Amino acid sequence: MARPSPDHGWESAGALFRTELALSGGRIGKVRDVYDLPPAPGRPPALLIVATDRISAFDVVLDPPIPGKGVLLTQLAAWWLRWLDRRGLGPTHLLGTDAGAIPAAAFTSGGTTRESLRGRVTIARRCRVLPIEFVVRGYLEGSGWAEYQDSGSVCGVALPPGLSRCARLPEPVFTPATKATTGHDLNITFEQAAGVIGADLLSRLAERSLSIYREAAAHALDRGIIIADTKFEFGIPVDEHGHDASDDPILIDEALTPDSSRFWPADRYEPGHPQPSYDKQFVREYLETVVARGGWDKSPPGPRLPDEVVRGTLERYREAVMRLTGDSAS
Ligand SMILES: Nc1ncnc2c1ncn2[C@@H]1O[C@H](COP(=O)(O)OP(=O)(O)O)[C@@H](O)[C@H]1O
Ligand SMILES: [Mg+2]
Repeated sequence: MARPSPDHGWESAGALFRTELALSGGRIGKVRDVYDLPPAPGRPPALLIVATDRISAFDVVLDPPIPGKGVLLTQLAAWWLRWLDRRGLGPTHLLGTDAGAIPAAAFTSGGTTRESLRGRVTIARRCRVLPIEFVVRGYLEGSGWAEYQDSGSVCGVALPPGLSRCARLPEPVFTPATKATTGHDLNITFEQAAGVIGADLLSRLAERSLSIYREAAAHALDRGIIIADTKFEFGIPVDEHGHDASDDPILIDEALTPDSSRFWPADRYEPGHPQPSYDKQFVREYLETVVARGGWDKSPPGPRLPDEVVRGTLERYREAVMRLTGDSAS
């Protein structure tokens, strides 16, 4: 659970740790604060999603926040969602990114200013979230690599023998996971995931996830970034009463950011060992050094991040965003 930073307050040195808005339905995710927006003429039921500068690793929110990370994540996710839309890769939840569209009454609690939200806002079609993480892997790392070493397969998908760590897979594979409300997400088989949301829906969304991954990974590779794996979420749009308003799931949440994906610099790719990366792997590696010297057991609260880790993380996020979205001829 996120908590106000004891040293930083809710907003300091340009970093936003958490928000306080006079809107209903507020919930605090690991990274984002989500609120219901009041009905507006001509707009379907919508959510306000604010990307704070919180960073989580091993499912623990860390101190201090990474100042500006939420802006980078919001810009990149919105850029991708528009890119997917232009390519006909399926509908998304994105309605807008304008902090000006938040009603003035939201700011009456005095906690958060409109100014502090600029660049961090996603206005999204409100959905019932499907309780499956739609993970696609093009390369073998993380829990995929761990499972492969044990069983030669990932989520029940058999892979060729003899693959090394971080190897490129012959084909990207769909490897669903549970969406745990507490604790870590668990890899599950296609059949187990089908048991949760139905085989038809799962097949359709697995195909959509694979198509999105293939096209996005090709674009990223053009820009010198390998998207090793990534996670999508889908939801069913709801009406003002929270009832399903359609049968067609849409892509929700953030997508194709360093928070939901492994991003590797392509020019340094070399299978057989862990890769340098643009994502929070940098933070994870620092934390592992703390764990290795007996300074942390991976339960909250996490150790405080040193300045150079905060700076290094922000630099990596910034470079990834610039590479992917820079001089957008596409
Ligand atoms: N369009 C949407 N409708 C409903 N819920 C959404 C939508 N987009 C994202 N969400 C949910 O909002 C939350 C975003 O906050 P986040 O910090 O990522 O939380 P978490 O700790 O659950 O990962 C997630 O729980 C995600 O499932
Ligand atoms: Mg999330």
